[in-house]
Amino acid sequence: MSFIRVRPAIMDDIDMVIAINIECLPEHYPLSFWVEHLKKWSDIFYVAEVDNEIVGYALSRIEEGQSYFKSSYIKMGHIVSVAVREKFRRKGIATYMILTLLNSLKSIYGAEEAFLEVRISNEPAIKLYEKLSFKVVKKLTQYYLDGEDALLMAKAL
Ligand code: ACO
Ligand code: ZN
Repeated sequence: MSFIRVRPAIMDDIDMVIAINIECLPEHYPLSFWVEHLKKWSDIFYVAEVDNEIVGYALSRIEEGQSYFKSSYIKMGHIVSVAVREKFRRKGIATYMILTLLNSLKSIYGAEEAFLEVRISNEPAIKLYEKLSFKVVKKLTQYYLDGEDALLMAKAL
């Protein structure tokens, strides 16, 4: 049996997180992006380990903005990037990381909502977010550099 653990990321994890990002997603970021996130929001940046090996990550930040569900200005958790290595998918690992993240966004930062963007063709991810009760609130036309549209999905916490 494998041992699955979700824990906050630390500086030593960054190389592996970047490798997983490059392996799994077309959106990449400079080293400074990951380091800054870790310095500022280490408690809402998680990695998942299987038998002590990092197999996925979920990264978020705090922003303020107009609520997607009511007419007020609120604190929101922006889920920036989530990925799980292919061999370890469909085991509930992304679900586990995002639930942990949502809990921290609310309990540590008092965020009232969480939101994210996802490629309109990314059926696995859209299904995952729907299962976690995220709703599509907007379509962002040509959001990505290659011209693909994004769905903006949000959830009250
Ligand atoms: N097809 C259909 N439904 C799926 C799929 C799939 N391939 N993958 C996940 N789901 C849905 C299912 O409902 C699944 O529940 P089930 O297995 O009981 O049917 C549910 O999501 C939960 O799946 P998890 O096992 O928790 O998800 P997983 O650990 O496999 O990770 C992820 C999902 C992160 C989307 C993974 O496929 C991945 O890394 N893909 C490439 C990177 C990516 O697209 N990341 C998200 C981009 S958007 C963003 O980062 C904000
Ligand atoms: Zn985003």
